[in-house]
Amino acid sequence: MKQIDLSVSINKIKLSSCIMNASGVLCSTDKELSNLLDSFSGAVVTKSCTRKPRKGNFEPRYFEWNMGSINSMGLPNLGIDFYLNFLEKKETKKPIFLSISGLSAEENYFLIKKANHYSKITALELNLSCPNLIEEEDLISYNFSRISYLLENIFKFNKKPLGIKLPPYFEDLSIQKMALILNQFPIDFVTCINSLPNGMVVDTKTESVVIQPKKGFGGIGGSIIKPFALANIRKFYTYLRKDISIIGCGGISTGKDIFEHILCGASAVQIGTQLMKEGVFVFERLEKEFSFFLRKKNYSSIDSFKGNLKNFQ
Ligand SMILES: Cc1cc2nc3c(=O)[nH]c(=O)nc-3n(C[C@H](O)[C@H](O)[C@H](O)COP(=O)(O)O)c2cc1C
Repeated sequence: MKQIDLSVSINKIKLSSCIMNASGVLCSTDKELSNLLDSFSGAVVTKSCTRKPRKGNFEPRYFEWNMGSINSMGLPNLGIDFYLNFLEKKETKKPIFLSISGLSAEENYFLIKKANHYSKITALELNLSCPNLIEEEDLISYNFSRISYLLENIFKFNKKPLGIKLPPYFEDLSIQKMALILNQFPIDFVTCINSLPNGMVVDTKTESVVIQPKKGFGGIGGSIIKPFALANIRKFYTYLRKDISIIGCGGISTGKDIFEHILCGASAVQIGTQLMKEGVFVFERLEKEFSFFLRKKNYSSIDSFKGNLKNFQ
């Protein structure tokens, strides 16, 4: 049988498999991170961390149904020191992406400076797109001048490979503007997309919303957001410098979904809602399904079809 090579590079970072977890899902505690390190994932992404531990928003703050999930977690995490200490103790060959989500520009500088001293961290994923913070006035990633200023400062001192976790954009012009900014900096990758902000799910039996924080409004993930993820990946693939890799995230639950993300231009993919539903066994299943799909299509590597989406014909 033809050997399928699922290994990829995100800029200079080598992954034995292109499939990894999305930040925030089963990657917050010692146990969850250990399970991920032992799983079939090609890399491990940690829960977005802040300077101090956070309890996050009131529960219930996560709900899932057959087409997706809604959450308003509010960044519950054990604080950067926990993640750095945990990683220092672990021996692993997997690349480790430390996700950082400071509540202010200064906090992000602090977190990045601190993480820069730790050799076990392969790269930083700077989350500029958390839609569920009670204390945030506006999403920084929808504010182009704030992003530009933040990145200018970060690249004065940062030495680690760094990527940005982006929210979904809904207009071509927004993606063009964002790409123009990102292209000016030595960014290694972008992750498209975070949860779709401001969604709502209604339970008709109780005639109420299904999560408590923010009167039921929350970020949407899962199959229902896949078309938005694909569109954002495709547009960023068109507008970004070719040495900025794209990690696709949003709505992946099958091997075929992974193929679609990579065909649009992603170099690797992250799994959020489906990981929550299925646990870490999802990686082995997806690897099998994806390999099977590629074999049927007669592709033996990711590079042989990455970004090759055709126009309608
Ligand atoms: C429970 C939960 C917690 C999340 N926490 C984070 C987080 O801390 N940092 C982050 O960048 N994204 C976070 N996300 C967003 C996911 O990483 C991902 O971008 C989103 O769910 C879309 O992927 P999916 O369709 O596979 O779920 C979270 C998502 C969920 C469902």
